[in-house]
Amino acid sequence: MFTVAPKHIFIALCSLFLFYTVSIYTRTYNYNHNKEMQLKLAGKGKLVWPKYNCQSCHQIYGLGGYLGPDLTNIYSHPKKGNQYIRTMLKSGIRQMPAFELEEDEINALLEFLKSTDASGNADPSQFTVNEFGLTETNEN
Ligand code: HEC
Repeated sequence: MFTVAPKHIFIALCSLFLFYTVSIYTRTYNYNHNKEMQLKLAGKGKLVWPKYNCQSCHQIYGLGGYLGPDLTNIYSHPKKGNQYIRTMLKSGIRQMPAFELEEDEINALLEFLKSTDASGNADPSQFTVNEFGLTETNEN
């Protein structure tokens, strides 16, 4: 009959612990400074969005007011994008008010809209509302 002495279990566990600890502390991280800065800026933009009440008229991922269009994917829209959004913010049009944003607020907001664009697709034409008021995608 094969038996294992408690001291061998102890030694095995200690070696595993040491091996794991060394492997954790000697691991190299692929730290991406640029990505980190982009995320920080997008985080600031996420706060600029409610500061100027954009959500009262616009939707992100289909959520928000309905006076203006959904802006989730405006950043990658072939005819719109970065410069178009800047111009729209500065000059406004019809019910879209002109805003006097600081340059760094605009940059943060644009980074936020870039991140919503990269993370989701909220084309309202792809949704229908069912009898319970819930949305369903049309791509089934
Ligand atoms: C009072 C309501 C209102 C508020 C607040 C508002 N918008 Fe608008 N926005 C509109 C309307 C309405 C339009 C559509 C204008 C048109 O084409 O007639 C629009 C259009 C836009 C467009 C162009 C959309 C497109 O597809 O052409 C962008 C970009 C935009 N708004 C960004 C913003 C941002 C960013 C904020 C917050 C800083 C904001 N808006 C706040 C009403 C608003």
